[in-house]
Amino acid sequence: MTRPAAGAPLSRVDGWLKVTGQAAYAAEHDAHGAVRDVAHGVIVTSTAGRGRINGIDTRAAGALPGVLTVISHLNAPKLPYQPFRGMPDPAAGGGERLRVFQDDRVRFFGQPVAVVVAETLEAARHAAALVRIGYDGEPPATDLTSPAGPPNKPENYQRGDVETALRQAHTRLTRTYRLPREQHHPMETHATIAHWNGDRLTLWDKTQNVLNTRADLAAVFGIPPESIRVISPFVGGAFGSALRAWPHVTIAALAARQVRRPVKVVLTREQMFTGTGHRPVTDYTLTLAAGQDGRLTAAVHDISAATSTYEDYRESLTVQGRMLYATSNVRQTYRSIPLDISTPTYMRGPGAATAAFAIECAMDELAHELGIDPIDLRLRNEPGQDPSTGAPFSTRRLRECLRIGSRTVGWGDRDPEPRSAHDGNWLLGTGVAVASYHTLRAPAQALARIDADGNAIVQCATSDMGPGTYTSMTQVAADALGLPMAGVRFQLGDSTMPQSPPHGGSLTMASVGSAVQDTCDKLRLQAIRLAVEDPGSPLHGASANDVAVENGRLHLRDDPERGETYRQLLARADLSHLETPGGYTPGDEVERFSTHAYGAVFAQVAVDESLGLVRIRRVLGVYDAGRVINPKLAESQAIGGMVGGIGMALLEHAVTDPRDGRIVNANLADYLVPVNADVPDVNAIYLRGDDRTADPIGVKGLGEVVIVGVAPAIANAVFHATGRRIRSLPITIEALL
Ligand code: MOS
Repeated sequence: MTRPAAGAPLSRVDGWLKVTGQAAYAAEHDAHGAVRDVAHGVIVTSTAGRGRINGIDTRAAGALPGVLTVISHLNAPKLPYQPFRGMPDPAAGGGERLRVFQDDRVRFFGQPVAVVVAETLEAARHAAALVRIGYDGEPPATDLTSPAGPPNKPENYQRGDVETALRQAHTRLTRTYRLPREQHHPMETHATIAHWNGDRLTLWDKTQNVLNTRADLAAVFGIPPESIRVISPFVGGAFGSALRAWPHVTIAALAARQVRRPVKVVLTREQMFTGTGHRPVTDYTLTLAAGQDGRLTAAVHDISAATSTYEDYRESLTVQGRMLYATSNVRQTYRSIPLDISTPTYMRGPGAATAAFAIECAMDELAHELGIDPIDLRLRNEPGQDPSTGAPFSTRRLRECLRIGSRTVGWGDRDPEPRSAHDGNWLLGTGVAVASYHTLRAPAQALARIDADGNAIVQCATSDMGPGTYTSMTQVAADALGLPMAGVRFQLGDSTMPQSPPHGGSLTMASVGSAVQDTCDKLRLQAIRLAVEDPGSPLHGASANDVAVENGRLHLRDDPERGETYRQLLARADLSHLETPGGYTPGDEVERFSTHAYGAVFAQVAVDESLGLVRIRRVLGVYDAGRVINPKLAESQAIGGMVGGIGMALLEHAVTDPRDGRIVNANLADYLVPVNADVPDVNAIYLRGDDRTADPIGVKGLGEVVIVGVAPAIANAVFHATGRRIRSLPITIEALL
């Protein structure tokens, strides 16, 4: 038997293309020869945070050599935004986000207000700096406490009798936790090249969802989705920022139509702060009530999170509050607060990472107040079934995660008393937090083909923003087809390929992986049937069930000598290829089972007593994510997520100037992210196993859960080290002094 590819710690199949510069990213398709004669668009953004444009002077810009046009609301064509028949509006209000240059209104600082198109990037940048724009500005509303307009309809949830439970509780605590605005900041900035051929539009775009970009742009221009092709074979990181189309995609397409040639728009790092979403500012007030034994009797979650005035963005802020701990009495209110800002969006562990910070810090506070060990407190509140639905958990191995993690970090030796451990001038602390992320699945399709040379191509319109989709799908396909890894090419990132859900929410492996497996199983069986029915085949007359395929060769399980290769089979049948579509549609497992990925995160920190400086010494995550298709990629995902969590805890904060809505630190020198020196010892352990009710391939998703729980584990470690409870992220030196 050859060893299965799935489960093996294989290196990325596209790694070589990436390190040799052969992988074409969105802004590079002209350099790679896919499109010629590209003009450059540079976006001019608003320097007012709210108000109206009262004049635009483009004379100096237009007079520069090489400038082709300047487009603004003064001369832009009207854009309809008609979600095409049957196409869902991907985000209610997406029209407002994408219908650029339609009026003189300024909705946020950094809003695109004009684009300069020129022969060269240099000319376009120079000209963009010469565009003069006047504003009738008003002070923008940028703070949760003073919204820009009437509040959106809150999301409410209630179970049990909260009031009575609160009244009768032995212990009650109410705390407010605050998360700042955080920015995704993938290495590759967002970029789009747009090219019209008559009424047909091709977009080379950085996106986690070619089909969404296609649907959005079809709506913007009022054309059928079939007349748009979106191509996105490589994505240099995204973390959610590329789940939606943003204004610059419209701008590239609009400009290309205007100048009648392809136009490329690349956002600057500064424009990324307001141009591609962010994790919303969130205030999370949590009341926990418990008995003396630590059992939770009630929880009240009062959540306010920022959105824009033109879209009601919401994320999964309420999931954990309903299901993480056994509590009969729960009330939740989630308000999205309209502000004069650009619309927030999904950012790694969206909602869950935020909620976990509040819930897991509050659990630590409760443990301290009751004098119960924080791990013990969690075990005492471990539910036997989903407390919100009563459904059984498909798998839930949180106890194991906690046990393995506590053993690995030596939790038993920890003195629970804050400020009890020292290393010279450093106060040492160890903290724990629990993580969960709901397993999402969505319908996906794939196409698989075996060519006359015996090699296979498998396609799906999904994306690979970094987790290694190319590699993990190749592994699944190789096993199902009985081919070596080198015999399978997996292709993605093209809207002409079979339908895929968004590459986000940790649903790609579960959904696309299951579709790939189904498709490749069907293709293998098709080949086997062809052989057993073919009188010329050595397998003629055998039962299809008795035939296996290994290394591209079909053979009888009981008599491996008897067989032939795909290549021989196709040659004799005179076929250029064998091809089959397939797919995956989630069943009702979602209703019958409660399916989530889990984790226990342990952090050890040292805090300089006189300087307030926090240094991470160690982060360990122990994860129950179901089956792991590629341990090497999974570890890489976990390290990335934990580094993101360190950023959340200690560094990341986009600061808004309340006077005009400007992001004060809109660059990577002032918006801090962890560097190697901030990340000494980060490790992940995945429990072996699978979840056969989650989806056909047994995975629960792991890209999101690995960031969840990191920030509260660190905050709890800082409390253990210092006795100081910091409830506003990031935990800065100033906060600790
Ligand atoms: Mo992830 S925030 O769903 O890209």
